[in-house]
Amino acid sequence: MHVIVMGDALLDIDRISLERAGGRIGRRVEYVESLDSTNAEAWRRIEHADADGLVVFAEHQTAGRGRLGRTWEAPRGAGLLMSVVVFDQPVGQDCVANDSATGARLGVAIAVATCDAIARTAGVTVVIKWPNDLLIGGRKVAGILIESRKLSDARVAYVIGIGINCLQHRGHLIGPLAKTATSLEIESEFAIDRTALAVEVLRHLEEWVLPVPAVNVDRLRAAWMQRCEPMGRRVHLLHGGKAYAGSMIDIDPGAGLVVQLDEGGVRAFSALETTVLPSPTTVDE
Ligand code: BTN
Repeated sequence: MHVIVMGDALLDIDRISLERAGGRIGRRVEYVESLDSTNAEAWRRIEHADADGLVVFAEHQTAGRGRLGRTWEAPRGAGLLMSVVVFDQPVGQDCVANDSATGARLGVAIAVATCDAIARTAGVTVVIKWPNDLLIGGRKVAGILIESRKLSDARVAYVIGIGINCLQHRGHLIGPLAKTATSLEIESEFAIDRTALAVEVLRHLEEWVLPVPAVNVDRLRAAWMQRCEPMGRRVHLLHGGKAYAGSMIDIDPGAGLVVQLDEGGVRAFSALETTVLPSPTTVDE
């Protein structure tokens, strides 16, 4: 069967491996042309060996996973679809740093890293929408899905799934996506080289993610604040079955989005337990 792949080339995995030689993130790189989900594949490979730093790439997913049980779809060869495995470092004999705070900080770090990698490679301004959607001109260009499991040796394994819309044309973004999504092909004045983008994402992840518990919270917060939607922006959130409305006032990398609530009071919402609802001023979600 002749496989039609968008763009000029498949991902150049040898080039990615070469560029990442000596690093942690990308010290092992695996490529499967088509699979169910790179996150699922990463979990399958975790069971076999010490997979810290492993990255799985694919050209096509048949069951790409999004946040909150959604799916993630991209035409074959159009997206950058990747999953990165990171192991938390034990900080004591049998414990790791507070799992949920570490996971939250990791989410912030990955959003910052991916944001910078895209901006640098494609020459575009990318904004982080909490918790970790990446937008250009208010439309989503990339999504991040972080999954975690506790390992038998007390470490926590994280699989960081990143999907970036690279080569999609407007005609690929149909239905609601026409208004809410975009791609680098649409937004950038440069030809998009997915391999170069992959290398840049891994390079930035190395800078921001290593080692997980030692991520500097103040530095993370400052980086997020420079790249996020303006503070004061209205948000509508669903948490524990209850809807909240208010204005964003801060990000706490360990606790989540800090909101001045319309009903009074200030509250932090964790990314894991909160859904961002569409609001009149929001085109995404
Ligand atoms: C979201 O915005 O809902 C997160 C989307 C994450 C999609 C990526 S594509 C590569 C990796 N494998 C998956 O199955 N999902 C993530």
